[in-house]
Amino acid sequence: MADELIAVKPEIAARAHVDAAKREAMIAAEAADPDAFWRNEAKRIAWMREPTKIKSVDFTGDISIKWFWDGELNASVSCLDRHIAAGRGEQVAIIWEGDDPATDAKVTYRELHARVCKLANAMRRLGVKKGDRVCIYLPMIVEAAVAMLACARIGAIHSVVFGGFSPDSLASRIQDSACSLLITADEGRRGGRRVPLKANADEALLTCPTIRHVIVAKNTGGAVEMMEGRDHWWHAITEGEGESCEPERMNAEDPLFILYTSGSTGKPKGVLHTTGGYMVWASFTHQNVFDYREGEIYWCTADVGWVTGHTYIVYGPLANGATTLMFEGVPSWPDAGRFWQVVAKHKVNIFYTAPTAIRALMREGEAPVKNHDRSSLRILGSVGEPINPEAWLWYYRVVGEERCPVVDTWWQTETGGILISPLPGAVAQKPGSATLPLPGVKPAIVDGEGRILDGAAEGNLVLLDSWPGQMRTIYGDHPRFGQTYFSTFKGMYFTGDGARRDADGYYWITGRVDDVINVAGHRMGTAEVESALVAHPAVAEAAVVGMPHDIKGQGIYAYVTLKAGVEPTEVLRKELVAWVRKEIGPIATPDAIQWAPGLPKTRSGKIMRRILRKIAANETEGLGDTSTLADPGVVQELIDNRVG
Ligand code: PRX
Repeated sequence: MADELIAVKPEIAARAHVDAAKREAMIAAEAADPDAFWRNEAKRIAWMREPTKIKSVDFTGDISIKWFWDGELNASVSCLDRHIAAGRGEQVAIIWEGDDPATDAKVTYRELHARVCKLANAMRRLGVKKGDRVCIYLPMIVEAAVAMLACARIGAIHSVVFGGFSPDSLASRIQDSACSLLITADEGRRGGRRVPLKANADEALLTCPTIRHVIVAKNTGGAVEMMEGRDHWWHAITEGEGESCEPERMNAEDPLFILYTSGSTGKPKGVLHTTGGYMVWASFTHQNVFDYREGEIYWCTADVGWVTGHTYIVYGPLANGATTLMFEGVPSWPDAGRFWQVVAKHKVNIFYTAPTAIRALMREGEAPVKNHDRSSLRILGSVGEPINPEAWLWYYRVVGEERCPVVDTWWQTETGGILISPLPGAVAQKPGSATLPLPGVKPAIVDGEGRILDGAAEGNLVLLDSWPGQMRTIYGDHPRFGQTYFSTFKGMYFTGDGARRDADGYYWITGRVDDVINVAGHRMGTAEVESALVAHPAVAEAAVVGMPHDIKGQGIYAYVTLKAGVEPTEVLRKELVAWVRKEIGPIATPDAIQWAPGLPKTRSGKIMRRILRKIAANETEGLGDTSTLADPGVVQELIDNRVG
């Protein structure tokens, strides 16, 4: 089943931006003269000064990555002004669909421009300058896009924090990049419930002395406390501001945003993206991977708190003048037909979601899908985690009626945009495979020693050369950037993913090979969950691993050693689950907690996670070599008391 080949549809190829021949031509052109190729692609965005210096990259030593580095631009101009100048001001830029199915809104490019400028002017008046960091902690409302673009307008670096994160998680992100302004809302809405964003922010700000001002969007109208002098209502502070705002001139390599993501060790790191290369990559990939056509309605179901929302709700679609749909709700509420009801209501042409949502909806059967008209759909996309062939085929057959190509897009926060994916008019699909690299992307598979493997092979996924959308550094910690991504395999960018390449050259991502887990498409460091657990007074030690989960892809399995004298009770188990949710956020909710009197450790004290992963997955047959363990007896104890 997995190797079924789904041919390119002639009707898609006939009108696609990129058909098979064009794809070959692009690859050849990029190989022959990369500078000329990317200089030409850079024309897709608006420059105040066109770049003449295209690429300067060194993956060794101190690691230096520069693209279009004498160019000047402002990202918000590419997303707004030039579309208005081209006579598209009255076109809808954003369709907002509320959590409550009775609520929606449409914002034209002209209106969006005006709202961005008013907020940008207000931010300037508060003293926010080029290079300052602004934290955005908002629900999926139009204000989230407005806030991002307003930051871009004045050259402030935005750091969007997902609205599901806890006060602690918010605080540590604000502290790491020393943000001076926070933009939030009274409350968010999700699946009929309210999320107390301002109250969370108030708690976070107790430990964030760098924040001088808070702008609060009135969303639900719920009661909040406003601190005199610090907190300002969005509507009040923007009221008297003008609807135009001089865009800051930014060098292509000036930062556009920071986005925190989890790694295998330590605190989440601030992935830094710059302006020129990121915008080119966002536009290039959004147009070609989704084969976006002028006038189409495009919907990415991600949250703007994740990179998918940055690149494929805001910057990519708006750079390309698309109508982008922003959805505040969840796929399962009020019922399992919600996605398809929205598709029918707004006549969505391109739909991009995550495997976890597809698997959850698949469980509800075909009726909720078939109750809604999906004839507008043309392209389907998947992102965030490996998609199993069964879910791929359901998406293709039931949702897309075998009419719509499915693009399984592999990428990361660090890559800025899609790197491996079918181009729908050019590349035949195989259910479960992200297929082939985009033109200009140079993946390789290496063994444990960094030797490049040819042909059909399985190993670690690396990238041998840069692409314009690549992250440039970890905010405030360039040495950690080199250490994290370029030291495992010298001279190569290491993705942290494992992959297999088949005889046709197709890539099959097998999942993370480091201590990062992917829970319902949300990336999480096991170390983060462990440190939340050990912060609880009853816990002596904790080890967290991923376990297979039917819907979420991976679930969180925690082994917990209690302090001497503490009784392992059901009440305590529930308390620890609630504790982690409070410390990090609901996305980190442990699925299983196993009381572990001891953990399998080497004689030097290192926890053998390989063994813990196998026990969590109930694969206790071939546990491999346990002879190096300090106390081999603990393994049997853990197997006997496995949870689930
Ligand atoms: O393991 C890969 C998985 O998600 C990781 C990146 O997570 P994040 O930075 O949060 O970005 C998610 C959205 C791009 C990757 O290292 N991943 C992402 N897309 C896929 C995937 N795994 C398999 N197939 C994909 N299409």
